Amino acid sequence: MYESSVTPALAIARKRDGFALTKQEIESFVKGAVDGSWASYQLSAMLMAITLKGMTYAETADLTLAVLQSGQIADLSQVKSYKVDKHSTGGVGDKISIHLAPMIAACGVAVPMISGRGLGHTGGTLDKLDSIHGFKTNLSLSEFVTQVEKLGISLIGQTAELAPADKTLYALRDVTATVECIPLICASIMGKKLAEGIDGLVLDVKFGRGAFMPSFEKAKQLAERMVSIGQATGKPVRALLTSMEQPLGHAVGNALEVAESIACLNGHGPEDIMELTYALGEHMLLLSGAAKTADDARLKLEASITTGAALRVFKEVVKAQGGDVRVIDSPELLPQAKYSQKIICPTTGFVKTVDPLEIALAALDLGAGRKRAEDLVDPAVGVGQIAKIAQAVTEGSVVAVVYANDEIKLRHACERISHAFSYSLQPVAKLKLIEQVIGL
Ligand code: URA
Repeated sequence: MYESSVTPALAIARKRDGFALTKQEIESFVKGAVDGSWASYQLSAMLMAITLKGMTYAETADLTLAVLQSGQIADLSQVKSYKVDKHSTGGVGDKISIHLAPMIAACGVAVPMISGRGLGHTGGTLDKLDSIHGFKTNLSLSEFVTQVEKLGISLIGQTAELAPADKTLYALRDVTATVECIPLICASIMGKKLAEGIDGLVLDVKFGRGAFMPSFEKAKQLAERMVSIGQATGKPVRALLTSMEQPLGHAVGNALEVAESIACLNGHGPEDIMELTYALGEHMLLLSGAAKTADDARLKLEASITTGAALRVFKEVVKAQGGDVRVIDSPELLPQAKYSQKIICPTTGFVKTVDPLEIALAALDLGAGRKRAEDLVDPAVGVGQIAKIAQAVTEGSVVAVVYANDEIKLRHACERISHAFSYSLQPVAKLKLIEQVIGL
């Protein structure tokens, strides 16, 4: 299928020198990620060259299709309902997939979800789900299909069969400073999403200090590219451009975030998380035809929580994928850190800024993510009870709690997190969370 005469070093040099890669070069690179015909240092060098020199729309489309075709496409033809998924470009405290997928499935729309691990400073849904003891995210393609047929939902990672190239490239990008790149993000997300056998997709494209695309304009370019590549393959795609200028919700760290998602399913979700959850969910239900208007979609999503239907679906998924279901009723059974320390507010007034990047990097140092591909993630560590921008505070009140399994790391993280907050004596406006929708 692929041209075998491409020389990795030559293709890397051509991208390094700013040339557009041919379809054959792109296919050779992606094949090399799967079969080992490109060494990991050559893959990494190409990733860096692409990050520095960029890719045209045509190259990005070729890269996306090559990632998609690096494995099989799930055959979900036996699932009669509409199949929709949601994916985020990566944020801090973004646990929305964990509770949104069961909410959508509870509304009768199938969600065959393939998620990623932590990337750069951002957390990943798979690492969060790993904090549920026994939960298997590495289902085979046939297990994935069977579960979607049976339950209408599956929460897994890339398999050996679905978009396997992304698994290798994603892990290399995570540790080679090659995450913040529009064509690589586009191919990674759209390659694996199109492999799921979905009918439609909703993207949460983040901008701001905690996102891979700090500028709104860059995030918009990424959103437009992903929407048009999806549409070129015949799939309706919508992208919400959303702010990542503070962590989402009050928790950053794997088990802490699962507990926060369980709170959302119990009707106790933080305001910003629920605003975004409902907005993304509304577009998913509208795409699927399960709701005719945004109001109708909102009512259905709210009912999935108030009736307990979404919580029941989540329990079924956790059980089907081998996880300890008891944590859903008793989140205190999730992994707990040995040490915790409160971050105390030094003044009376209002929270002005909460730096999501500083908080994410502190969580990474605590062990909530990876600095090297082989690092083990500590599910228990992170930051909880994080105060929100505009919140009124008094001197001596708690603005965050740091959880650690190492006393020295705890001290360093507390230092860093204290500097993540700034305060104002005057009231501060709440952040606007959803800026624009692309693909309507
Ligand atoms: N999510 C992905 O799956 N890939 C990226 O590159 C970024 C976010």
